[in-house]
Amino acid sequence: MHRRDFLKDSLYASALALAARPVLLAGTRPKSILVLGGTDFLGPAFVESALADGHTVTLFNRGVTNPELFPNVEKLRGFRSANLTDQNLSALGQRHWDAVIDVWPHDPTMIASSAELLKDRTQHYLYVSSISAYDEKELARPNTTEDATLASWTGDASEYSRGKAESERRLRAILGDKLTIVRPGPIKGSRDDTPDLLIWLRRLRNGQPHIAPGDGTNYVEIVDVKDVADFLVLAIDRSLHGTFNLTGRPILFREFLNTCKSATHSDAELIWIPETFLHQQGIAPQPGVSNWFLNFPFWHPEPDRLGFAQISSQKAFQAGWETRPLRDTALDYLMSFASLNNYDFRDPLPAETEEKTLELWQSRPH
Ligand SMILES: NC(=O)c1ccc[n+]([C@@H]2O[C@H](COP(=O)([O-])OP(=O)(O)OC[C@H]3O[C@@H](n4cnc5c(N)ncnc54)[C@H](OP(=O)(O)O)[C@@H]3O)[C@@H](O)[C@H]2O)c1
Repeated sequence: MHRRDFLKDSLYASALALAARPVLLAGTRPKSILVLGGTDFLGPAFVESALADGHTVTLFNRGVTNPELFPNVEKLRGFRSANLTDQNLSALGQRHWDAVIDVWPHDPTMIASSAELLKDRTQHYLYVSSISAYDEKELARPNTTEDATLASWTGDASEYSRGKAESERRLRAILGDKLTIVRPGPIKGSRDDTPDLLIWLRRLRNGQPHIAPGDGTNYVEIVDVKDVADFLVLAIDRSLHGTFNLTGRPILFREFLNTCKSATHSDAELIWIPETFLHQQGIAPQPGVSNWFLNFPFWHPEPDRLGFAQISSQKAFQAGWETRPLRDTALDYLMSFASLNNYDFRDPLPAETEEKTLELWQSRPH
């Protein structure tokens, strides 16, 4: 079963989630919201949060991704493209909305063309960017705030980070004070199909001793998809404009793995092994080398990414944002994967390699 079938199964769960959410913030009125996108990962979480708050939602997309979602929500079909002669935004007509949210792209031409079309037809325009929009050097130190330097533009729209950064700049020029930009960090939770967190949860759920890389003092920052969605709705309810990091709060890698353990009711034993030893066994890159540690997701000991998992979301918290515990995110995420029939999970670190490394570590000369 693929994501689409899984989503059907999830509709019932979504309905329950809707029923459990609080109603519209006191003092706010229901608004009409146009969602550019809305049916893959963050989009559905936003639609659910907005509907639960009493807003009216219109979706604009091609009708390809999960078209069965939200049967009672208005759907406009069209096609967005950086090639403006191919693009078809005609279904938007001359309509006005209280708020418009552009959820998914990073191509500045595509993003700017929608904003140009809609700028005088809404009071509030929101864009989902990413912490990737920051210039790389900003990620070397902790506590990056929203005023940090963004990546420069090279003209290559296939570059995600630079595309997000340039999209932000163009939107600011077009929309000025009407604009809200959010910059989430790694998003996890319901409808997630990236198996990075799954690697840890599956390993730990199986019990047994497992390698815990490093010494537990590296940081992890993960944000729940529902929390990102709820902040966007909060921004609409309270007319919050400007730019907001949405990364949640940093936790230590030790706490991260312990939460994964408790979420899976695991009695696995974590054996902390230094980076140098893991490198010698060929299962982690050389210490200090900037890389993504596929065998050990979310572990980032590289000095030049020291700040990557310590970005400050203080501004969003001060504006009233609340985030849920990582355990809840892990359970939503596990539920999503459990609903995928025949999901072919493969741990990038084969069990035999892990066992052999643990034996070598335990029999090392002291
Ligand atoms: N995942 C992370 O860890 C992470 C971290 C930081 C930031 N972010 C950001 O979070 C956002 C996540 O977005 P999402 O994919 O979950 O958004 P989404 O709005 O849930 O899904 C993408 C939507 O785009 C529509 N679409 C795709 N191609 C289209 C086209 N050519 N014309 C019109 N509509 C089109 C799809 O529907 P159709 O296919 O039916 O058209 C779908 O509704 C992105 O901005 C991402 O950069 C993610």
